[in-house]
Amino acid sequence: MKDLSGFTLLPGRLDAAAQAALVEAVRAAAAEAPFHHQVTPGGKAMSVAMTGMGPLSWVTDAGGYRYAAINPRTGRPWPPMPQVLRDLWTDLADPVVPADACLVNLYREGAKMGLHRDQDEADFGFPVLSVSLGDTAIFRIGGLERTAPTRSIRLASGDVCLLAGASRLAFHGVDRILSGSSRLVPGGGRINLTLRRARPA
Ligand code: SIN
Ligand code: FE2
Repeated sequence: MKDLSGFTLLPGRLDAAAQAALVEAVRAAAAEAPFHHQVTPGGKAMSVAMTGMGPLSWVTDAGGYRYAAINPRTGRPWPPMPQVLRDLWTDLADPVVPADACLVNLYREGAKMGLHRDQDEADFGFPVLSVSLGDTAIFRIGGLERTAPTRSIRLASGDVCLLAGASRLAFHGVDRILSGSSRLVPGGGRINLTLRRARPA
């Protein structure tokens, strides 16, 4: 069985000021590109509300999963990716090729995300970099097959994790959030930012 080599957790990588600045950046982005419960190709609305920042964001609807340069709900490009996130990608993920997508996930009380793999990107040589803000998440990560053993990891506000190497295509999801464990996100809950390189370099 392939192990989780390549998975890195950096607890508390972002300090309180950086976390607050990112929440503010997300609030400004969401004023332009509102959070929305997207619908899977199978017709189910996701419990996690999403928006995006940067040249591309991940979208799903009856037509399938894909990266889009235009927000299908507004007809406009996504708001720009904050510099602090671009710098984090350069420092931790790839020093040369920039991230071109930041998916913003908002978990209010009760939201979760089923086990899945991030596989809509062109080149799995680039990691997925994830930033957690607000309430702690019970994150689950397994192996390359859905049935492989999984382990549960707490992701707290300010934690950054990297799915690289063998873990890049590992099944993962969020079982639940610990509602009220943080007061960072206005209205409560958790924000997760995932930076990716979606297009070929
Ligand atoms: C995701 O897999 O897109 C989200 C992961 C997370 O919320 O930590
Ligand atoms: Fe994912």
